[in-house]
Amino acid sequence: MKPITLTALLGATYYCSAATIPATLERDELLPKRIPTSYESAVMGRRILALTPLGTIATIFPKDSNDKRRPPDVGGMPHSLMEYISDCENDDKGNPTLLAITISTTFRNIAAGSNVSLAVQWTPPHPPAKRIQRSSSSWCLTNQLRSFFGLSSSSSSSDSEEYDPAPYSAANLPRFSLLGHIERIALDDDQAATAAAISTCYTKTHPDARYWLPGNRIHTSYFVRLVVDRIYWVGGFGDRAFIGWIPVEEWNKVSRQEWESIRLPGEKKGWKEWSLDDGNNDL
Ligand SMILES: *[C@@H]1O[C@H](CO)[C@@H](O)[C@H](O)[C@H]1NC(C)=O
Repeated sequence: MKPITLTALLGATYYCSAATIPATLERDELLPKRIPTSYESAVMGRRILALTPLGTIATIFPKDSNDKRRPPDVGGMPHSLMEYISDCENDDKGNPTLLAITISTTFRNIAAGSNVSLAVQWTPPHPPAKRIQRSSSSWCLTNQLRSFFGLSSSSSSSDSEEYDPAPYSAANLPRFSLLGHIERIALDDDQAATAAAISTCYTKTHPDARYWLPGNRIHTSYFVRLVVDRIYWVGGFGDRAFIGWIPVEEWNKVSRQEWESIRLPGEKKGWKEWSLDDGNNDL
């Protein structure tokens, strides 16, 4: 193993810093024109909900449980896990559709009376064409150490791109939590038709879920809606985005036509991170 000298690391740090000096942003790109309203944020949120397949759902462990495997002191503690989400109901209210698996901890907590909070974040499909680069030396140091220890692929194969675990500034992108309760989707008179329509919509987003749809032989499952009671929204940096509670009436009022007519940051290639006027957002 090669000894790591201080000079080598300092040199590496200097090189990294020098190589990643932020691209100069034009000043007017950084100045907010107008902060979106809560309603405009609701339109973005409804589009994010429609385009995003995964969320993180939080429930509360019940105080008492006869589950012998459960640690005794988790009653009242929050519990968050990744959950498949979809937007499959026709009423256009923005209540996410979930597939409840009865043995999962999340749905056991719900069966015991827990309310829920579902966190959803916007993940742009394309990395920005122009972004604020890392100027911190810590990432460079980490990478330099990795290559010293033979962990980095970049030293051996020049054509492999550096793995970037966050190729955009997530802090400046919208995310929200939907607070509410879970309701089983009633399959009324039109039972077969409704069940088929929801399954078709759900498996369009989650093809693998066809193995655990209602009626499968492994797990008991059924479709539920998260009835949204409250919405907490963080649109990005506070100098340009709305941060706060979106009234539920606004969330429910947004129509499909409205959320279909806008574009979110990074939906199109060539977007500029941190830019307020990249032509990608119609709001
Ligand atoms: C769930 O939330 C509602 C408010 O929307 C509240 O009235 C109710 O007590 C909550 N249930 C539990 C079990 O905390």
